[in-house]
Amino acid sequence: MGKKILVTGGLGYIGSHTVVELIKQGYEPLIIDNLSNSDPKVLDRLEKICGKRPLFQQVEMRDKEQLQEVFWNNNNEIAGVIHFAAALLVGESVEQPLHYYYNNLTSTINLLECMKEFEVRPLVFSSSCTVYGNPDELPVTENATIKPAVSPYGNTKKICEDILSDASKAHDLSIISLRYFNPIGAHESALIGEFQKGAPHHLVPFITETASGKRDKLMIFGNDWNTKDGTCIRDYIHVSDVATAHIYAMERAMDKNQPKEAFEVFNIGSGNGYTVLEMVESFVKVTGMKVPYEFAKRRAGDVEAVFADTTKANKTLGWKTRKSLDDMLKSAWDWEQALAKEGQG
Ligand code: UD1
Repeated sequence: MGKKILVTGGLGYIGSHTVVELIKQGYEPLIIDNLSNSDPKVLDRLEKICGKRPLFQQVEMRDKEQLQEVFWNNNNEIAGVIHFAAALLVGESVEQPLHYYYNNLTSTINLLECMKEFEVRPLVFSSSCTVYGNPDELPVTENATIKPAVSPYGNTKKICEDILSDASKAHDLSIISLRYFNPIGAHESALIGEFQKGAPHHLVPFITETASGKRDKLMIFGNDWNTKDGTCIRDYIHVSDVATAHIYAMERAMDKNQPKEAFEVFNIGSGNGYTVLEMVESFVKVTGMKVPYEFAKRRAGDVEAVFADTTKANKTLGWKTRKSLDDMLKSAWDWEQALAKEGQG
């Protein structure tokens, strides 16, 4: 049996793809999730993809006793933790800041207290390029200035990183924070992807829903940015490539012989910046579908351009992306069609 890795929020978008990669690499993921933004059916789908059903427990991490029980029941077996569980909608976080701070910070602190108590040292944390705000230099490296967060959601990522950094040193933990750029696409099986509760929040689901006819048109937020075609630039990365980064990070965090800082951060992006219009054009080219669009006002809180320098992750973790932009968009479209077939699209 492989090493047991506790995966918080493991039924979510990036969590579920990471569970697939963990099983592929011989680990035994133990998923905990409060099902607030995920569907237990994902377990059946993971079983289909992996040929075995991952361990799962419904746990509310804000309740420390529930979390302690998980560690207690699996005492001496949990080799490391990957922490995805968090509330993650930027707009909602502006409306409900207290919920965001309470949820994201309490669950992280409870987890760290359990790790300390049960002497589980390796942790990989789900962070975001949102901590860089509008970067002064591109591509952005891990040494770039951390800017004041635009949203309470972004601020929880920044504060969690500070908590993790302090706790790693004080309690001899080995923590790696992965700052994701823009994860998109879905598993090649089209069995797991980004489940939408209500309207989408990110660009690519808006594109696929427009192509499928669920929406009349895509609204592009601003065509007057200082970029080659006036639309914003982002670093899109296939969710399965984001998932594999967690395996490399976990292996580094678990390696006691590897000289490293107690707390490390890595950019997880493709290293390429694409404009919104380039994304739409590539999608049309890859799928042959039509995506009518209209320019709208700039969206509050958007940054003009951000894309990653991934040298540190490539060299230190030995990780690299495998999927092209075409792979990302094709898989996003396959996923949209799979959802439509099931009547969820
Ligand atoms: C968003 C979050 C960010 C989070 C990241 C990953 C905001 C402001 N930022 O990043 O904090 O870390 O997701 O979860 O929500 N766009 C359109 N039309 C649309 C939707 C998007 O033109 O209907 C544009 C946006 O203006 C942006 C680009 O597409 O330029 C990407 O947007 P999105 O997918 O929402 O991601 P981010 O805003 O980069």
